[in-house]
Amino acid sequence: MPTSLLLCFCLIISLVASVSAQQPRAFFVFGDSLVDSGNNDFLATTARADAYPYGIDYPTHRPTGRFSNGLNIPDLISLELGLEPTLPYLSPLLVGEKLLIGANFASAGIGILNDTGFQFLHIIRIYKQLELFQVYQKRVSAHIGSEGARSLVNRGLVLITLGGNDFVNNYYLVPYSARSRQFSLPDYVRYLISEYRKVLRKLYDLGARRVLVTGTGPMGCAPAELAMRSRNGDCDVELERAASLYNPQLVDMIGSLNQEIGSDIFIAADAYRMHMDYISNPQAYGFATSKIACCGQGPYNGVGLCTPVSNLCPNRDLNAFWDAFHPSEKANRIIVQQILRGSNQYMYPMNLTTIMALDSRT
Ligand SMILES: *[C@@H]1O[C@H](CO)[C@@H](O)[C@H](O)[C@H]1NC(C)=O
Ligand SMILES: *[C@@H]1O[C@H](CO)[C@@H](O)[C@H](O)[C@H]1NC(C)=O
Repeated sequence: MPTSLLLCFCLIISLVASVSAQQPRAFFVFGDSLVDSGNNDFLATTARADAYPYGIDYPTHRPTGRFSNGLNIPDLISLELGLEPTLPYLSPLLVGEKLLIGANFASAGIGILNDTGFQFLHIIRIYKQLELFQVYQKRVSAHIGSEGARSLVNRGLVLITLGGNDFVNNYYLVPYSARSRQFSLPDYVRYLISEYRKVLRKLYDLGARRVLVTGTGPMGCAPAELAMRSRNGDCDVELERAASLYNPQLVDMIGSLNQEIGSDIFIAADAYRMHMDYISNPQAYGFATSKIACCGQGPYNGVGLCTPVSNLCPNRDLNAFWDAFHPSEKANRIIVQQILRGSNQYMYPMNLTTIMALDSRT
């Protein structure tokens, strides 16, 4: 008993020491399948990426729950910043010292609204992700004290990617969806933005101080939408209209939230522009196609799910889209380069390189 107590005490001391000695910055991730690193593998849901060929180009060449052939956006941000990849919050490996790396709370299929992704059954909706963030902080406090935990969270970097599913897996999921009968598109967008504002405010209240917020990509250009809604291979006009209404209002909302708080807490990442660069000119980025998914079936490989019996392209670096909705690792790398080094047109008010330089001085 005394030995184990002593051991326990030493562990606490060393954990406290490692935080105060400029422990690498913690990284927290919230949102949907674009950033889910495997939480859904632990849930009873149909929104999962736990079978071949998902993960075919991941270092282990095995599926991990990431919706990518290889690394996803959070992985690449961690790599660029010299951090260990953050574990999914539901992973049994997320214990002890690993907690100090941060955590990924994202869950494929979710949206800003609770009814988004209802067809996927048990997924971690955004309000629940925020609750788990609170539980996480209690767990960290048990290791390094509440002061240590608060500082870890305050100094952490946060990424939140949310909103696309509120269109493709809600408003536009089926013709005459409940939400499309309830709201005109402009009213729906205003409603989404007002609900998203509450989510971001809550993140701030829970201690987040640097938050990258991505807008939606060109949803109408995803192979799934080309297959379902496009006649000639052009991006779907209606989904493009949704993105063009939503993204500028998101940037405005972020600006007003920063103003209310009096600090540049929230950083807008223009995912639309980042994706559109290579979608509109795939060859310039080394892609053979930005219309046909690598893995899938039907027109544009955009019908149904990517499964072991789907078509699979031999070289994933030649396809901008890995599956019907998600970018390939190669495309994720282009996006992360813009997050890191992009001009004000991509990252507003500043890019991640600038954030890291600013925050290392405090
Ligand atoms: C989602 O559900 C939670 C829990 O019931 C609730 O607190 C939250 O307000 C709901 N969000 C929306 C947008 O309705
Ligand atoms: C990143 O942001 C900084 C500061 O805004 C800027 O000076 C720099 O040029 C940006 N990087 C690029 C490649 O634009």
